[in-house]
Amino acid sequence: MRILVTGGAGFIGSHLVDELLRKGYEVFIVDNLSTGKKENINSKANFYKSDIRKPNLGKIFAEVKPDYVFHFAAQIDVRKSVSNPLFDAENNISGTINLLERCKEFKVKKVIFASSGGVIYGKKRDLPAIEDMVPNPFSPYGISKLCCEYYMKYYSLWHGMNCTSLRFSNVYGPRQNPYGEAGVVAIFIRNILNGERPSIFGDGEQIRDYILVNDAVSASISCIEKGDNEIFNIGTGVPTSVNRLFKILKSNLNFEGEPEYKPKRPGELYKNYLNCEKAKKEIDFKPQVSLEYGIRYTIEWFKKEKW
Ligand SMILES: NC(=O)c1ccc[n+]([C@@H]2O[C@H](COP(=O)([O-])OP(=O)(O)OC[C@H]3O[C@@H](n4cnc5c(N)ncnc54)[C@H](O)[C@@H]3O)[C@@H](O)[C@H]2O)c1
Repeated sequence: MRILVTGGAGFIGSHLVDELLRKGYEVFIVDNLSTGKKENINSKANFYKSDIRKPNLGKIFAEVKPDYVFHFAAQIDVRKSVSNPLFDAENNISGTINLLERCKEFKVKKVIFASSGGVIYGKKRDLPAIEDMVPNPFSPYGISKLCCEYYMKYYSLWHGMNCTSLRFSNVYGPRQNPYGEAGVVAIFIRNILNGERPSIFGDGEQIRDYILVNDAVSASISCIEKGDNEIFNIGTGVPTSVNRLFKILKSNLNFEGEPEYKPKRPGELYKNYLNCEKAKKEIDFKPQVSLEYGIRYTIEWFKKEKW
């Protein structure tokens, strides 16, 4: 079985590629290396350094003839989407349409899209957020993710394609960029390993739903056989405050210091976590690890990588 992964040099995409190869699939990657890294690319995968917006995507599809496509390439920085919404829309919306057109043309059996349960539901919702809530994104990044879900639905309804979207919560783990705006686990680990005090914006009681990348990857792979034309929340369903996250990191890294509390960031979502019952029922998704275990595993990787 031939599988194309867009964004396969990135954080989640590269773990997905590793696991697909381990399971015996033939894997092809399209990535422009804008945030992805060459060292993340599994040497057993076939790599095309290319952009999903480019017309040559058709040529790649003609060569690869993928059975399944995992669409994980995106610009993922909420702040960049605010400062340059056009850049965000070109990468995330136009890029997705270009990809879905090629999937239609080459009769791909299923497209699995990395959406976001962190940005689609918006503020003042009943929690945990559930898939059939009316979405209310308030950043260009959130709008672009939701827009892609609608395009997935359009291709499924009008062109008979099989398109499933996964609304990931906050994914963390090895290879996450510790210099980005998002990815608080990676940022805090880098801070502490460098002897710096992590910054917490606001009172630290912001709630998020942290899922280890390996669990996010298993949920994605389950969708090859299950969950046709659906939308699933993929998280742990466990609310965790930033203060608690800091405490877990502090004890595992034997850090003596305290975080530096800074004014809260305007527009930041205060609380969000996901109801993942639908994925449990329909794709047998069950997160395998606790936050404490996942954090220790992630710390070990960052120590080895000497960030
Ligand atoms: N990390 C999270 O917590 C999280 C949560 C929800 C959803 N997601 C989604 O999961 C996917 C992967 O996120 P990630 O955290 O691994 O980010 P990442 O930045 O590490 O990976 C994105 C990859 O896409 C590539 N890329 C970007 N634009 C491209 C383009 N136009 N053409 C080709 N390649 C392009 C980048 O080089 C990178 O390798 C994204 O779609 C993101 O929106 C991530």
